[in-house]
Amino acid sequence: MAISAVVFDAYGTLFDVMGPARILAEQPQFSDLKPIWPELGQNWRVRQLEYTWLRSLMRDHADFWQVTCDALDWALAAAGRSDPELRAALLALYRHLPAYPEAATTLQSLRASGVKCAILSNGTPDLLQTAVTTAGLDGLFDAVLSVESVGVYKPDPRVYALATERFDCPADQIVFVSSNGWDVAGAAAFGFRCLWVNRGAHPPERLPHGPEHILDDLRAVPQIVSGI
Ligand code: LAC
Repeated sequence: MAISAVVFDAYGTLFDVMGPARILAEQPQFSDLKPIWPELGQNWRVRQLEYTWLRSLMRDHADFWQVTCDALDWALAAAGRSDPELRAALLALYRHLPAYPEAATTLQSLRASGVKCAILSNGTPDLLQTAVTTAGLDGLFDAVLSVESVGVYKPDPRVYALATERFDCPADQIVFVSSNGWDVAGAAAFGFRCLWVNRGAHPPERLPHGPEHILDDLRAVPQIVSGI
């Protein structure tokens, strides 16, 4: 079967969302974060995702930067921290997230074999562009698609339809790569062929629709795509 494009989720898949709390905890000024950064980072991420789902259900959309700030405020309050400098430093790092080490080589290898690549993400166009540039991934994507064009978050099918519209193809000609099991379920329900990058070695989601392959990281993506 001809594949029209390989479409990547951004946060947690290409970009390391635990980076800001981890990086800051290494700085002497914020060394008191050392024992709490994993919980802080995890609470921030979980609340961020929950707020996207809840806002979609409430039909009260706010963009991903707003949701990210709101979620951080919750996570800082849960940690008993109300330090504005810490908040500003975490948000500044979130704008410039590190990419996972294998992201660039995976994308380069796909492109070398003539495969189109894209991002489909909850992030705003501005956030995504900054992340791509910071990570040195400029020029490796045929499209960077943001939920902001439809004003609702994943896993609403209108989001996944942005990719079939952009590449003018049926859903089963898109390979979708995500580290988020719930995102894989939503994308597979839409009809994408899904690869789950299970970085956290989590148990499979108990949701209808799932991945065709489960990977530890992105390295096997080109080989799997070439066999589809
Ligand atoms: C994204 C979130 C789901 O990039 O990680 O869309």
